[in-house]
Amino acid sequence: MNTQLLPATDESLALAARLLAEGQLVAFPTETVYGLGAHALDAEAVRGIFAAKGRPADNPLIVHIHDRSQLNGICEVNDTAIRLMDAFWPGPLTIILPRKAAVPDVVTANLDTVAVRMPSHPVAMALLAACNLPIAAPSANRSGKPSPTAAQHVFDDMDGRIRLIIDGGESDVGLESTVISLAGEKPCILRPGGVTKAMLEAVIGEVDLAGSILRPLEKGEKALSPGMMYRHYSPDGQVTLIEGEESQVVEALRRLHTHAEGEGHRACVMCFTEHVEALKDCHPHDIGHKDDPSEVAHRLFATLRELDDEKMDVIFSEVVPPEGVGLAVMNRLGRAAAFRTVNAAEIL
Ligand code: TXA
Ligand code: MG
Repeated sequence: MNTQLLPATDESLALAARLLAEGQLVAFPTETVYGLGAHALDAEAVRGIFAAKGRPADNPLIVHIHDRSQLNGICEVNDTAIRLMDAFWPGPLTIILPRKAAVPDVVTANLDTVAVRMPSHPVAMALLAACNLPIAAPSANRSGKPSPTAAQHVFDDMDGRIRLIIDGGESDVGLESTVISLAGEKPCILRPGGVTKAMLEAVIGEVDLAGSILRPLEKGEKALSPGMMYRHYSPDGQVTLIEGEESQVVEALRRLHTHAEGEGHRACVMCFTEHVEALKDCHPHDIGHKDDPSEVAHRLFATLRELDDEKMDVIFSEVVPPEGVGLAVMNRLGRAAAFRTVNAAEIL
């Protein structure tokens, strides 16, 4: 299959809308990451998403809409959901609700719930409006790769596998949406993202955090969100997180890098902008300013992809405090590192 990569124009969006209605796959930009879309009520089309990504069939998809009336055929909406939609839609919040029968099982992986989201990216909104269909869309990466935050990332992963990629520039947030479940007794964040726990609690009161956000699943523990089970966001190289006091972390990064190179590895560091100069001999990858977790979120996945492009096999990274957007960063970075963490003081 020939994969077209087109800038977002009225013509390319009309083409995309037609392809989606015909049951084809189209990748499109959102404010979080690029999505790989298919008509959500067309089971055959949705099966194509799993094939193109190499995604396990037991990992359900998010249904994207541009108008709340589309939810009527998809899920049971409750008062808490409406308050969240009023506050955060369109935007980077996915809400899990009891599903309706019209949603194909392949979308929900046979769960009795469905994930729904209204994205705020103008190109995503224009496409959803142009086709006027609910669109099932996971992140547009091959399964196991970091989510794509630029059209080129999608092309790198999906060339030959899908008909069309709409280029809408770099994704703003850079990490996938916050996923909150309203299907249990108490609202629970299954995946942290740009809409933080504090922002949610300001609107609906106390919310829980799924236990496995900052650690691997324990043996026999059931993932509340199936996507959390899988090796995810991982570059090919081995990532180790270095925590501790700032100057000690910088010194530890330098020593670890020197040692790894001495052992013959292709080694690099992921560090804050403020430390790039001090680590200039350690192949630094700038992840953003240390007190700006949103900038780190914005850059993280592109950085992880660069590490693969450069065939790095040993990577040492700084960390951010796991609060606010930093919680989302550490959830993804933690998984990229398989939660391998070292305290700088132990190195020095
Ligand atoms: O920002 C985003 O959410 C992007 C853009 C494209 O909208 N999409 C995205 O989709 O990240 P995906 O498929 O990569 O991640 C969806 C996550 C997975 O962890 C999945 O397991 C979870 O949401 N999920 C979907 N439906 C669910 C359900 N019914 N119950 C629990 N978790 C669900
Ligand atoms: Mg994904």
